[in-house]
Amino acid sequence: MRLQWDPQKYNTGFTHIDKQHHEMFEGVNGLILFLKQSTPKEDEKNIEKILEMLNFLGEYAQQHFRDEEIIFEEYDHPMKDVNKEEHRLFLEKYVHYQKKLQEKMDQGRLTRGVLIQIHIFLQSWLVKHILKVDVSLRECAVHIKEDEYEEVLPEGVFARFLSFFKRDTTAQAAS
Ligand SMILES: [Fe+2]
Ligand SMILES: [Fe+2]
Repeated sequence: MRLQWDPQKYNTGFTHIDKQHHEMFEGVNGLILFLKQSTPKEDEKNIEKILEMLNFLGEYAQQHFRDEEIIFEEYDHPMKDVNKEEHRLFLEKYVHYQKKLQEKMDQGRLTRGVLIQIHIFLQSWLVKHILKVDVSLRECAVHIKEDEYEEVLPEGVFARFLSFFKRDTTAQAAS
């Protein structure tokens, strides 16, 4: 199921962090779109794009974690170590999945199994982590001044992947 952004549920009160979380939801949705809509015939072409997107998502997550950890540190938040450790474990697992994907690619037998596993991991980790740890930033957000944090990451970064997978199916339906 597609991840729906619900500000009431997921907002931390730090606008740039919320935007980044929202973006990451879009990345996970890109993967769902691929898994649901790409036909076996299209897979070969789409798989390159999906790998590109997963690499990008990994880099994006790293940058997001850095931005977020700065805030946890600045406020000396009681969950700062838990947050950091969960981020570390996430990246460790993500690298493991990326290696697994690459191995399958090298052997020429990449099936949807690994991608489904990655999707389950990403979706459940993201939702759980935001709700359990990141939203605890709300108590700090009441103290922020406007424009205190710079926008480090651009917006709409996953849109090109989403439209790529969408366009493909439309093109296919039309033919
Ligand atoms: Fe976090
Ligand atoms: Fe986060």
